[in-house]
Amino acid sequence: MQKLIIEGSRELRGEIRIQGAKNSILPIMAATLLCDEECIIYNCPDILDVKTTIEILQYLGRSTTFEDSVLTVKPGNLKKSDIPEFLMRKMRSSIVFLGALISKTGKAEVTLPGGCELGPRPIDMHLSGFKQLGVRINENHGKIECSVIKRIKGAEIMLPFPSVGTTENIMLAAVSCEEVTTIRNAAREPEIVDLANFLNKMGASIDGAGESTITIKGCKKFNSASHKIIPDRIVAITYLCAAAITGSRLVIKGIPKNFINSVIPLFEETGCLIKFFDEKNLQIYSPERLQSVKTVRTMPYPGFPTDVQAPVMAMLTTAFGTSVFVETIFGSRYKHVDELARLGANIKTEGSVAIVDGVKNLSGANVSATDLRGAAALVIAALAAEGVTIISNIGYLKRGYEKMEDNLRSLGAVIKQSM
Ligand code: UD1
Repeated sequence: MQKLIIEGSRELRGEIRIQGAKNSILPIMAATLLCDEECIIYNCPDILDVKTTIEILQYLGRSTTFEDSVLTVKPGNLKKSDIPEFLMRKMRSSIVFLGALISKTGKAEVTLPGGCELGPRPIDMHLSGFKQLGVRINENHGKIECSVIKRIKGAEIMLPFPSVGTTENIMLAAVSCEEVTTIRNAAREPEIVDLANFLNKMGASIDGAGESTITIKGCKKFNSASHKIIPDRIVAITYLCAAAITGSRLVIKGIPKNFINSVIPLFEETGCLIKFFDEKNLQIYSPERLQSVKTVRTMPYPGFPTDVQAPVMAMLTTAFGTSVFVETIFGSRYKHVDELARLGANIKTEGSVAIVDGVKNLSGANVSATDLRGAAALVIAALAAEGVTIISNIGYLKRGYEKMEDNLRSLGAVIKQSM
């Protein structure tokens, strides 16, 4: 089991370029199944979840190459329409293969997906959307079998909540149908727009992605396409947190302002200054000690992203004053709190609320990552802590962060990996 060893309490200096977005590349890789020609994806992040998704594509009969951030998915005989349990369990987003398989083969057989331990993660909205498109669903002891009764039919689908995965799955399933499907109360994340752009390059006509109503007019034959994945806003915000807690000045390259608009006021409240010197490049200046913030409430996009709740909480553990968090998206996303406490943080939780009383210093300790973004939170806290922190279970980190250890080392952090 790999560990990260960090000697904290050092300023970071330099610049960093942001990797491609994990939450874009995964559904786009599933979308490549639709096409029987070659697809080339640029800016593909080198992370564990991409490797797992490559395994799924290969299991289904596609061949792939992945080198220097370029992923090529080659045509091949699509032999299967099931995904084995060991692959489904490796990550939650394996569920988007359901929509792609339904479109491509008219059937799909999967087990319930795995993913981060954020509380129960049902897929009822995904299945309800498929049913409205004319898919028959048979659920049996955690196995889900989908089959298209006659053909996928266009539908008006109103989501009870703007679920990211559900919006993507419905887009992927509806895109092989030439009738129009409308999704209302759709998720509006930039990653949804990226998926729509990719599907449109392959021949679909999807309008409204990035807004609450998306219309999908599909097609029967999909062309080969090449596409550059958008930058990862969650990774960019993670590095902003690392800079802020260590009182550092960093240049962060390749992140458009509108991707991080929802967090800029929060960083300003802490006393940081984020200055964009052109469209996609920024510099953050941080004070010696941050100020606390009043309330951080996670919301669907364009609100404050739940995926940075843990990194931002870590950043505020040493702020002056009390910060309050309200987690509204996931039922159990405070598993990092006990680990941050081992480093000296003072955090109390009750249900969906966490109250962080800033302490002057954190000190190094042995901690264990509990999920992907919780792992990033521990790295952020360790960078500021006095002494040595050893973080175990860093496999979680590698699911979503490309070369984080090398990147931080290049910024002056003292960090190494050990078994
Ligand atoms: C995606 C992101 C994840 C992010 C989350 C919320 C990917 C690969 N993952 O996850 O990083 O944290 O959006 O921004 O893009 N829900 C149901 N029934 C369903 C589907 C969802 O009750 O059928 C609930 C979930 O349990 C959760 C909420 O809706 O409480 C939001 O989930 P959703 O937006 O679907 O998140 P994911 O697509 O799983």
